[in-house]
Amino acid sequence: MEIIICPDGDEVARVAAETVAQVCWRVGPDVVLGVATGSSPLALYRDLAALVSAGKVDLSGASAFALDEYVGLPEGHPESYAEVIRRTVTEPLGLDPARVRVPDGRADDIEEACERYELAIRDAGGVDIQILGIGANGHIGFNEPSSSLSSRTRIKTLTPKTRADNARFFDSLDQVPVHCLTQGLGTILDADEVVLVAQGASKADAVAAMVEGPVSASCPGSILQTHQYATIVVDEAAASKL
Ligand code: GLP
Repeated sequence: MEIIICPDGDEVARVAAETVAQVCWRVGPDVVLGVATGSSPLALYRDLAALVSAGKVDLSGASAFALDEYVGLPEGHPESYAEVIRRTVTEPLGLDPARVRVPDGRADDIEEACERYELAIRDAGGVDIQILGIGANGHIGFNEPSSSLSSRTRIKTLTPKTRADNARFFDSLDQVPVHCLTQGLGTILDADEVVLVAQGASKADAVAAMVEGPVSASCPGSILQTHQYATIVVDEAAASKL
């Protein structure tokens, strides 16, 4: 793991966008991005979009795979991750919407939808760089504590803590879905490179457990210690317990 501690969130975004850009330069315009929702990577996407607009990064043939999706939200719901990814990733980065995939949280056959998602990632040649945030309880994607360290895309139940954390995006806690589909920890580890961003004191415990704790299902992010090319970019507040 490479740990980069930055003075503030803007620098976190700049460094992380540069890390993604380097992969794009190396792989070429048909790079396969793994993209996360949440507030943590928003500034990274902004900075990457600026590099695209300036002609410094070419994503003309790029594909993207989202980490996760809520189960049961109606199509077009503004907080479905399909919509969030469209607003924060597909449009700003100018990606072809046909090449941006999100797990199908509305599928009748959830198990089949998860298998299809894994196959789609494999058919695209695998993820070149996976962008990640981390939950306050150490989750990555929606792999909550106790997730199998070798899990693949599947349905999971959200913890009360994660539902409470995400209630800010909904009118009330009751409206936050109880289930989600998420790439597994094994799926995430298959990416050639990983860059995880975290900002703020609320992430300090999770960052410390991820970086300095044992590799353990009680902090799913700690599995990144086993990845050959994982870069963790944090601000000083998120690094304060290291
Ligand atoms: C969400 C997402 C994760 C995200 C995390 C942190 O529930 N499923 O992919 O990394 O929680 O979110 P935020 O960046 O808003 O703190």
